[in-house]
Amino acid sequence: MGFPLLKCVKCGGEAVVNLKPYGLVLCNEHFTEFYEKKVKEFIIKNKLIKPKEKVSVAVSGGKDSLACLIALDNLSNELNFQLTAYHINLEIGKFSKQSQKTVREATKKLDVPLEITDLKKETGFTLPELIKINRRPPCSVCGTVKRYLMNKVPRELGNEKLATGHNLDDILEFTVKNFLNNNFFWLSKLKPLLPSVNSKVLTKIKPLFERTEKENAVYVLSKGFNLPHLTCPFSRSSEWKEIIAKIEEWKPGFKLRFIKSFQKINFPVEKLNYKRCRICGELSSSEICSFCRVTRKQTGNLQELKNRK
Ligand code: AMP
Ligand code: FES
Ligand code: ZN
Ligand code: ZN
Repeated sequence: MGFPLLKCVKCGGEAVVNLKPYGLVLCNEHFTEFYEKKVKEFIIKNKLIKPKEKVSVAVSGGKDSLACLIALDNLSNELNFQLTAYHINLEIGKFSKQSQKTVREATKKLDVPLEITDLKKETGFTLPELIKINRRPPCSVCGTVKRYLMNKVPRELGNEKLATGHNLDDILEFTVKNFLNNNFFWLSKLKPLLPSVNSKVLTKIKPLFERTEKENAVYVLSKGFNLPHLTCPFSRSSEWKEIIAKIEEWKPGFKLRFIKSFQKINFPVEKLNYKRCRICGELSSSEICSFCRVTRKQTGNLQELKNRK
């Protein structure tokens, strides 16, 4: 890190980041101050957390959710809420081993209680096995499993809210793709605060809604934590992210202005007729929820499916 030719606009010290949309070049200390102030203001403005609430932060081990964990831990005393962390071990070989190690080290350093779900213990399958038996795109299987567990496990542990590390870059990409596909149902759910619709559903919050991937990475490093170096072997590079990054280069501040304006649009919220899943009892739009379908809980014959190539 470090921009030898650039000096912090606040103290003249060595700059670590150039935040073009804000016209700010900052050192470690002043960037940390800037970032934490922005996250705090965003939480207060959007009423994401109330005093005395129990908040679980879902930490994958990637830079964004690590930044979310560190920033929320930093605010938990001042805003008076209880913080715990939740991690799903998807068992994707070395990638998951490293992710779990990163999460364990960070939560230990911050003294934040951590709950881990091992996918194999929970379902009988690792994520690569589930992908094989379902013959569906990896991220769709992974998303189904993660959404279900992130809603169920922290809720059963008594938490009222689930915080995720979704960042401005992810949110913008998701917005553009879904808008172009007329997928207003998903856009209606893309809010910093998604209140619970039922006692089986946790309220979801996204404290880093307006923070970029770059800011999150610099924040993790500035606070003295390591950034993971492995990426998920199933991840694909995103054309839309590259296109959006080019626009941002030409028009600094585009991403933030776009998402702030877009959030003012109220997409009609589709009222789904929720039922209880016949197998697990969680909320579902069909007889058997997508998690039970993906993990083949309805067949009860795991061995046969494991042998399927
Ligand atoms: P993704 O769906 O991978 O873009 O992740 C979105 C958010 O979900 C992350 O910022 C985390 O808060 C959470 N998340 C993703 N993977 C995991 C995991 N394995 N364990 C816990 N939380 C996760
Ligand atoms: Fe879900 Fe890679 S983390 S497919
Ligand atoms: Zn400074
Ligand atoms: Zn189910």
